[in-house]
Amino acid sequence: MVGLTAVPDGHLWTESTDKRLAALDLPQIYTKPSGTELLQTLDLLTIKPRSFGASAHGPVKSRAVDPTGLTRYLTSIIASPLSWLDTDELREAIWDAASARLSERSGRTAMPAMSRVFAIPTSSGEELTLTLHEPSLTADNLGMKTWVSSYLLSRRLHSVLESTPQLVPSSSTAPTPNPDRTLRALELGAGTGLVGLSFAALRGETARIHLTDLPEIVPNLSHNAALNVELLTRTAATVTTGVLDWSASPETPPAAEEQYDLILAADPLYSPEHPRLLADTIAVWLSRGLDARVVLEMPLRDAYLPQVQDLRQRLGKFGLAIVEEGEETGYDDWETADGAAVAVRCWWSVWGWSEKL
Ligand SMILES: C[S@@+](CC[C@H](N)C(=O)[O-])C[C@H]1O[C@@H](n2cnc3c(N)ncnc32)[C@H](O)[C@@H]1O
Repeated sequence: MVGLTAVPDGHLWTESTDKRLAALDLPQIYTKPSGTELLQTLDLLTIKPRSFGASAHGPVKSRAVDPTGLTRYLTSIIASPLSWLDTDELREAIWDAASARLSERSGRTAMPAMSRVFAIPTSSGEELTLTLHEPSLTADNLGMKTWVSSYLLSRRLHSVLESTPQLVPSSSTAPTPNPDRTLRALELGAGTGLVGLSFAALRGETARIHLTDLPEIVPNLSHNAALNVELLTRTAATVTTGVLDWSASPETPPAAEEQYDLILAADPLYSPEHPRLLADTIAVWLSRGLDARVVLEMPLRDAYLPQVQDLRQRLGKFGLAIVEEGEETGYDDWETADGAAVAVRCWWSVWGWSEKL
C-alpha cells in the first residue's frame, strides 16, 4: 500500500512523490485489509467544508485523490460483509465511517452536523475566535448553515462600526461608556449567529444585541450563543436570542424605546416575498433617531438580483438612504464537481434616515 499523509483540508498526498492518488492505490476490499488499515484510510479521506476565505486556486491543487473513483471505492466497503474482521463493533465502525465519507462527497446539504471555527478581526489587529454548531441541513432550514456573506460581514464589522463613530463610539472616543447610551442592536435572520455574536464580542459593554430568526432556527442560535459563553463573558457582551418572523407584524407597533439603533442582516433574500417582508420589518423596528443605521450584506447571485433591487427601492421609499456601500468577493463553502472554488460577489451597505444624514 502507498504511504498516505493527511493535509489540512483533508485531501491526501503520497508520502514520497506528492503525486495525485487514484482510488486503486487505497487498500482494496478483495485484499481483505485489516480493520485498522481501513479505518485509517477512511479517516484520511475525511473532507470538511472549504473555508469561506479560501482562494479560488489553492484547494484544487491540493486535492490529491482522484474523486471519480472514490464513490465506488466507498460503496465497495459499505457493500462488503467484512467477514474477515473479528468483531461486529469493528465492522459497524468501518461501515459508519465509509457512509460518512460518502455523504461528505454528496454536497454541503448532505454533510453531517459539524462545528466550525471562525476568526473575526478586531480594530486592534487581534482576532476573536467563535465556534458555531451547524446541524445537518434540510432543504427548508437555510439558517442551520453559515453563509458566505455573513462571514464577510462579520470580518468587516470592526471597520464598518469605526466609520459610524457617532452611532457606535469606539473605546478611544468614549473611554467611559455611559450605560444609558448602550447601543441597542437587532439581527434579522441571524441563522447560526455569526454576525450577531461577532458584533456582540466586538462591542462588548457598549452594546446589547438581540439575535432573531424563525422558530425552528432559534434553538441552534441559542445553542451557539451558549457555546461561546467564554468569549462573550470575557468581552462583557450582552446577547439575547428570540423569534422574530418578518411575516408576523407586531400587534401594536413598538414604542420608541423598544426600537433598535442598529439592524444587521446577512443573506436575507431568497424568496420573492423577502424584500417586502424585510423592508417592512426594518421600518417597524428601526429607531427614528439621528444615528440609526441598517447594515446589510448579501450575495449578488443572478437569480436574486431583482430581489436585491426590490429591497433597495423599498428601503428608499421608507426614507432610508445609503451612507456607504461596496462589493467584495468571497468563496462558497462547497465546490464544483471538479473541486474548484465558487466565487461569490457580495454587496454590503450601511443605511441611515435620509433627512437626517
Ligand atoms: C440564507 S439564511 C442566512 C443566515 C445567516 N444570516 C447567514 O448569513 O449565515 C436566511 C435566514 O433568514 C431566515 N428567514 C427567512 N425567512 C424569515 C422570516 N420570515 N422571518 C425571520 N427570518 C427568516 C432563515 O431562517 C435563515 O436563517
